Amino acid sequence: MELIDGKYVADTIKKEIAQTVAQMVAEGKKRPHLAAILVGHDGGSETYVAHKVKACEQCGFESTLIRYESDVTEAELLKTIEDLNNDASVDGFIVQLPLPKHISEQKIIEAIDYKKDVDGFHPINVGRMSIGLPCYLSATPAGILELLARYNIPTKGANCVVLGRSNIVGKPVASLMMQKNNPGDATVTVCHSSTKNLKEICANADIIIAALGSPGFVKADMVMPGAVIIDVGTTRVPDSTRKSGFRLCGDVDFENVAPKCSFITPVPGGVGPMTIVSLMKNTLLAAQHVVY
Ligand code: GUN
Repeated sequence: MELIDGKYVADTIKKEIAQTVAQMVAEGKKRPHLAAILVGHDGGSETYVAHKVKACEQCGFESTLIRYESDVTEAELLKTIEDLNNDASVDGFIVQLPLPKHISEQKIIEAIDYKKDVDGFHPINVGRMSIGLPCYLSATPAGILELLARYNIPTKGANCVVLGRSNIVGKPVASLMMQKNNPGDATVTVCHSSTKNLKEICANADIIIAALGSPGFVKADMVMPGAVIIDVGTTRVPDSTRKSGFRLCGDVDFENVAPKCSFITPVPGGVGPMTIVSLMKNTLLAAQHVVY
């Protein structure tokens, strides 16, 4: 069994990006600039955004964090998005999800100029991704494919099972894994809460991508010997032995599944750091105007 070290790969890519940025600046070009909008004080969102700001520093990017309390109106947020769309100094921006219930996430996503949508959530980017056109790929699926590529994991003709059908991970990663590309070209099955025979389907998978947000869901008897396991889960589970009071728990019963696999991602330190670095890659592409 080989552990897929997402932290190491992410650190390597951040150094590559920092070198590119240093060269851009030496040529008199401006530093890439990412802005992030954070609404409220959700613990997970606070952590993710702090990591994004830190990654910007490591890559030599400029970053701007715009914060609102959770009672911000949809109209106020839409106005800020319009300002960012029109601000030539900002190459790309994100609105951290989830948003409070009184704000329509879809309306917010669709208000972002797709040319600055470095999260890849706008329907234009999602549509272009699904037919294989240049676009901003959403960060977690892009990070997963980068790990498969960097570990030379064969995907052509592989049985790939995706657990979960979210717009952010399940749907886009399933779409990318079936495209005629490398990584990709796999036979993809998407399982969800209404799937029958889920255990049997998983037990026939060469690659399992678990993204359902259910701690320890994938058990050893659902995994074929030699399978590749990608764990996207990051549920906060109460843990009084930690200073924070919680630990991050993946969707895979790591202790019992790991001995059966050829490759597996840990939580934390697997997919998570790759998600952040994919956002940095999209921001660099936005600053270079190579996609749009
Ligand atoms: N919430 C969970 N993941 C993400 C992400 O990749 N981008 C944004 N904007 N919000 C998220």
